[in-house]
Amino acid sequence: MSAKIIDGKAFAATVRERVAVHVARLKADHSITPGLAVVLVGEDPASQVYVRSKGKMTVEVGMNSYEHKLDADTSEADLLALIQQLNNDEDVHGILVQLPLPNHLNEDLVINAIDPAKDVDGFCLSNVGKLATGQKSMVPCTPLGCLMMLRDHHGSLSGLNAVVIGRSNIVGKPMAALLLGDSCTVTIAHSRTKDLPDVVRGADIVVAAVGRPEMVPGDWIKKGATVIDVGINRIDAPERGEGKTRLVGDVDFGSASEVAGAITPVPGGVGPMTIACLLANTVTACSRANGLIEPDDLTV
Ligand code: GUN
Repeated sequence: MSAKIIDGKAFAATVRERVAVHVARLKADHSITPGLAVVLVGEDPASQVYVRSKGKMTVEVGMNSYEHKLDADTSEADLLALIQQLNNDEDVHGILVQLPLPNHLNEDLVINAIDPAKDVDGFCLSNVGKLATGQKSMVPCTPLGCLMMLRDHHGSLSGLNAVVIGRSNIVGKPMAALLLGDSCTVTIAHSRTKDLPDVVRGADIVVAAVGRPEMVPGDWIKKGATVIDVGINRIDAPERGEGKTRLVGDVDFGSASEVAGAITPVPGGVGPMTIACLLANTVTACSRANGLIEPDDLTV
């Protein structure tokens, strides 16, 4: 192995410590406790794990966590009514509706019902538009975490060739916007991209966000490139015993770490940074809502 391992777990812990300092200040100086509401509809096992983890870390940094678990057959009207109630609740500064939603619910409608000032996911149209045009916004947590790790490793990203594999609204598109904002030359590759291996071979920075286990092998990676693996895929691991599973990314870590200059592991890379950025966004939303100067040391 030659690549430096980018330790997202340790980085996220430092971000959470900074968040906790700001939360303590908000409490002591202004008697305000930031609050994050998380809405989960249905019983998707992976979503349940994420939501539990978000709630635990929200409380650990001193914020209030409000969890709303709704049945899988909840009507759109009932979900929209809950969002309206959270929009109007002064104790709630951030609202996150865990995706994906059950099929009968219109995701676009639900996301855009969230007050943009409380949209700590940065998914609503006004936040997406602001990010795309370089205005101050709420930045989606996963791409923000990736950007922080890239800036930390490289210093300046200016002029680097970045390839983002995956064009989702949650990761691929906002990631590309952020990299462009840092003056990278950005390619968004996807399932229809011609000659994907060669496209990736031209990249100084590869962000893999496709949700396909170990899809990117080491021989696609340019020597010395930085690889950010957003994928979290559970696969069978019979070598660990019958019925056992393990988590892998979208990148084949074994072969990619032989050629990359730096790489994020799965688990322990992007995942913890996503939650840390969610907490940071909630503090930012809380500060803005109360007319206070927002922290400038949380998501640099
Ligand atoms: N599902 C997977 N990632 C995310 C995320 O970042 N935010 C929300 N709301 N749902 C998700």
